[in-house]
Amino acid sequence: MRTWIVAGNWKMHNTIGESITLAQAIKEGTTNIKNGEVVIAPPFTSLYSAYETIKDSQVTLAAQNMHYEDKGAFTGEIAPGMLKDIGCTYVIIGHSERRKYFHERDEDINLKVKKALAVGLKPILCVGETEDERIKDVTQSVIDRQIKKALSGVDKIDKVVIAYEPVWAIGTGKVATSIQAEEVHRFIRGILKELYGDVSKDIRILYGGSVTKDNIGELIGMENIDGALVGGASLKPDAFLGIIQQISGKK
Ligand code: PGA
Repeated sequence: MRTWIVAGNWKMHNTIGESITLAQAIKEGTTNIKNGEVVIAPPFTSLYSAYETIKDSQVTLAAQNMHYEDKGAFTGEIAPGMLKDIGCTYVIIGHSERRKYFHERDEDINLKVKKALAVGLKPILCVGETEDERIKDVTQSVIDRQIKKALSGVDKIDKVVIAYEPVWAIGTGKVATSIQAEEVHRFIRGILKELYGDVSKDIRILYGGSVTKDNIGELIGMENIDGALVGGASLKPDAFLGIIQQISGKK
């Protein structure tokens, strides 16, 4: 049985004060949730205050990125152990914005996934094709490469969450149709089955890309969509809680 997850990726938004206010509203709005998990991913500077706000609640904490080394001379980077120490349960890895603007390669992402698992963090591994790749009809080969490279040598697959985020749908308002999304989610589950056998049935695959409370209902009705990774709509309590309500009502 897969339990649903809704994760809010706050990206580079919110001061400490704003983060506490938002985390508090999410905590108060999720006291009755069952069979699922709510995760928030504030920026690094707000992680500790967010943790203090949600620590005795149903909500758990994620970081948006990490380095794959334990420590060292990597100015500006954050080590996996630091994220554990600050109260993170999850870490988002390989988000398309990191791949695009910070040139993260599949090889780096693989090192990060392995290191996250080694220190006891659960990776939310992001994959997805660009608009150009979809037009060229290479979506499946792109996803196949991203997943196989990211998971190379990874054995604790039950701790990994996959997020399918078509790059053309992120922050654009152009959400994938439920049929388009389910097609890729089913394809991903097939790759996981090839790699890990029956355990693949238990791995959560989230959809991300312009999710709102108005479009999540249809997406979440699909068999292989187990939740959502939400950007823009995770910054407003009503919008985010509305998504959580829809998902918890349908899964
Ligand atoms: P969006 O972002 O919901 O604003 O499209 C999703 C994401 O980047 O995780």
